[in-house]
Amino acid sequence: MKIIPGISSQVLATRIAAELDCKATLCEYKRFPDGELYTRIVDDIKNEEVVIVQSVNSDSDLIYLLQLIDAAEEASNTKVVIPYLGYARQDKKFKPGEAISARAIARSISAADLDTIYVVNVHNSNVLQFFEADTKELDVSSLIGDYISREGIAPVVIIGPDAGATDLTAAVAAPFGFEYDVLEKKRITGVEVEIKPKALSVEGKNVVIVDDIISTGGTIAEAASLLKAQNASDIYVACIHGVFVQNAVLRMLNAGVKTVITTDTIESVFSKVSIAEMLAGVLKK
Ligand code: R5P
Repeated sequence: MKIIPGISSQVLATRIAAELDCKATLCEYKRFPDGELYTRIVDDIKNEEVVIVQSVNSDSDLIYLLQLIDAAEEASNTKVVIPYLGYARQDKKFKPGEAISARAIARSISAADLDTIYVVNVHNSNVLQFFEADTKELDVSSLIGDYISREGIAPVVIIGPDAGATDLTAAVAAPFGFEYDVLEKKRITGVEVEIKPKALSVEGKNVVIVDDIISTGGTIAEAASLLKAQNASDIYVACIHGVFVQNAVLRMLNAGVKTVITTDTIESVFSKVSIAEMLAGVLKK
């Protein structure tokens, strides 16, 4: 087996290769003067089983992924790992005439003859149905819980910023016996709303706010400010996919967040949790 590291997942792909004791192939990526992208798999992969690892967190990442899939045509069998599947939040028509972006992306990726596609904690698992190839979702949320438990951030409460984060919050907290809750918005008057954890008090406790994706940091910054106002002690933030656009990290730190924790589905200095071992385990089967 050979691992083909996409341009956006170089570190993760190399870690997976190390876990599987196989080679990460050399690839060449460049941009032509007119802006078009170029991709070449330098090493010979003829008749090899290959695994392409490439997150899609920008438009160019999608083109690179499609090019890698095409370039791997001589492999005997191609699996694709998409650690972060961008565009997954536009998973239905919210207004007439809109593209279902997740479907468009899924169709373009799975048009080739692929063995299996692996995605990691997709925003809404319903998007799996849009892929024409066999597609499996890997849930890595327990790795976040494990990290929190090893860091010894006690006493700790795990808080989801909204009802949509309920399952993730439970998946991070329950296996490790952490208390958990989600924030709930309650209308007091026509102009006044109260946002607080549904059932638990955070007073004097360390809090880890968890979400699947952090993009602008707005959701987390708002949640952190509210929890600070309720006298939470240290506030940590953990997510699966740290997109961190523009000044997202600054916004969160300014709102009182002590530390940001994320995985290497999108590689950054905050990628303290690696999903490589779990992915390698799945690829071995
Ligand atoms: C939304 O449903 C997601 O779960 C995240 O809460 C959202 O993507 C976070 O976005 P932002 O960081 O821009 O507030």
